[in-house]
Amino acid sequence: MLHARFLHHVVIVGGCLALLCAGATGAEPDVKVGSKVGNLTFKDTRYLPRSLDDFKERKAFVLVFTTTGCPLVERYLGVLQRLESEFRPKRVEFLAVNVGADDSILDMATQAVEHDMEFPFVKDWDGSCAAKLGAARTPTAVILDEKRVLRYRGRIDDRYRLSGNREEPTREDLREALTEVLAGKEVRVPETTVDGCRISRPVPEKPRNDVTYTGHIAPLLQKCCVECHRAEGVAPFPLESYKQAAGKAATIAEVVAEGRMPPWFASPKYGHFVNRRGLTDEERELVAAWVRGGCAAGDGTELLTGKKDRWLIGKPDLIVKDAPGYTVPKVGEVPYKYTTLPYVFEEDTWVQAVQILPDNPRVVHHCNLGYMWPQEKINMENLIAGYVPGGEPMKLEEGVAVCIPKGAVLALQTHLVTTGKEEKCSMAVGLKFASGTVQKRLRAYLLADSKLAIPPGAPAYAVKASRVLEEDAIGLGLFAHMHMRGRDVTFRAVNADDKSETLLMIPNFNFDWQTAYRWEYGKQRLARGTRLECVAHYDNSAFNPFNPDPKATIRDGQQTPNEMMNAFFYYVRDGEKLGLTVDGATGRLKGK
Ligand code: HEC
Repeated sequence: MLHARFLHHVVIVGGCLALLCAGATGAEPDVKVGSKVGNLTFKDTRYLPRSLDDFKERKAFVLVFTTTGCPLVERYLGVLQRLESEFRPKRVEFLAVNVGADDSILDMATQAVEHDMEFPFVKDWDGSCAAKLGAARTPTAVILDEKRVLRYRGRIDDRYRLSGNREEPTREDLREALTEVLAGKEVRVPETTVDGCRISRPVPEKPRNDVTYTGHIAPLLQKCCVECHRAEGVAPFPLESYKQAAGKAATIAEVVAEGRMPPWFASPKYGHFVNRRGLTDEERELVAAWVRGGCAAGDGTELLTGKKDRWLIGKPDLIVKDAPGYTVPKVGEVPYKYTTLPYVFEEDTWVQAVQILPDNPRVVHHCNLGYMWPQEKINMENLIAGYVPGGEPMKLEEGVAVCIPKGAVLALQTHLVTTGKEEKCSMAVGLKFASGTVQKRLRAYLLADSKLAIPPGAPAYAVKASRVLEEDAIGLGLFAHMHMRGRDVTFRAVNADDKSETLLMIPNFNFDWQTAYRWEYGKQRLARGTRLECVAHYDNSAFNPFNPDPKATIRDGQQTPNEMMNAFFYYVRDGEKLGLTVDGATGRLKGK
């Protein structure tokens, strides 16, 4: 994986060298220090278009150009984080501006988490930030003052060079310039040279006009898109015909190029998950070429169809409904709904598959299902399954089952969204009972911190939880639940020799896409004594576009204005052989 990426860099750099020799790229920046810079636009880690105007009342901006491959960038990130922490109280905004031609937003967000960075990482998709600031290499740092006048451009300091390091820098250029700007003084050394990697513009793709809808695009949409983008699907519009796809061509090209669709939030660097979604570079290029070439139709007609079966687990043995359902208002944020379902399990019941089925999926952004006892305050501590747009239902391996204990009821936590008109929605839960012999019981460790207190404005407040495995485990999957301030979450397994392995990193957590990440059965084994660690970061800053109140201290609570840190590790005991004979008609032990 890493190797492939590294090679890719080499290829691109090679391509640019050729261009340079041909004199096609100006080597010297033509933007003078002292010039006034207008607004700058970029994409954030949530794929949203943002700009400098999103930051209010800043005394200065420090923008540092980055890629994920440049060794100097990697070495300087720690230095930058220390500077940022020092200057944040003085109302200086630091931004890492990614200009890696082959870095996706997911790659960029991964780098920020790996280096414990607290300030925003943004993507300069079209190269306009680098052009407007005259940056030619990474990691060039620039300072804009309150009036957005370019006051400094150059290196961070002279400590790390391409061919070697000093113990200590002889001059901290960026810090000195910043101090002078904040003091209203002239910057004595407004420009310094930067060692580092030349910024490469994306290599223009070779024109091709052989890409057609029927020949290339339809199969790709069928494989990656129509499960959601179909009539009655969870996505806002169908992509089942040429006309529908061509009619949305520009926006399809954009979301595919950015990696925003199909939705997937795990860093590609860690873990292998069977439910992974994504397009290959070749597939993304096909979509881009099709749109660039004017959306050729190709021969014949190709109509696509998504799955139409409502119950993907087969016909359920038991269906429980939240009878009255919900009325969703026209607009606004709807608080999480918590309901218990009207069915009490009279005996331990062994369940092999579970599906949560909304009758109006478009208003359900996610829904979690757990069991609890009727006398308890409603909670999700015994989470069984979740529903997200386009997610699959939970289906366990043959011989593995989840046990809903005697006396329990099912509880739902539903996050509804408005669509612009009043809507109704009710939820049904379908269960398929285990039958025959159950050998292993589905188990979960909850890693949680209910004592969290996120200070006002904190951009990356860390919350940690860990637990030591008390038995040899076959891991089934991971799931994390946070609210609107959730920024990223990482799961690690630390073995008895203190060797740590990252199991999953979600570097840009999105509360609309709370997906379970599933391993192929038997592929992820963890030995007894392994410590499972989960680190989540919360963004309580005003830059978080979903933050309901950046001025508040945030504590644990089930409603969206509060926060939660619930991380689940699902597993079965390696070697467990329960040998239970279950009646497939009731899910109870034979004879009960
Ligand atoms: C898992 C379900 C799912 C899959 C798979 C999926 N989409 Fe989407 N798509 C959605 C949802 C839901 C939205 C609405 C997002 C929102 O409201 O924030 C959406 C929105 C979009 C949009 C509108 C722009 C936007 O971001 O809101 C485009 C264009 C799009 N999808 C294209 C695609 C393409 C092309 C594919 C396949 C390569 C694809 N989608 C795969 C669920 C999906």
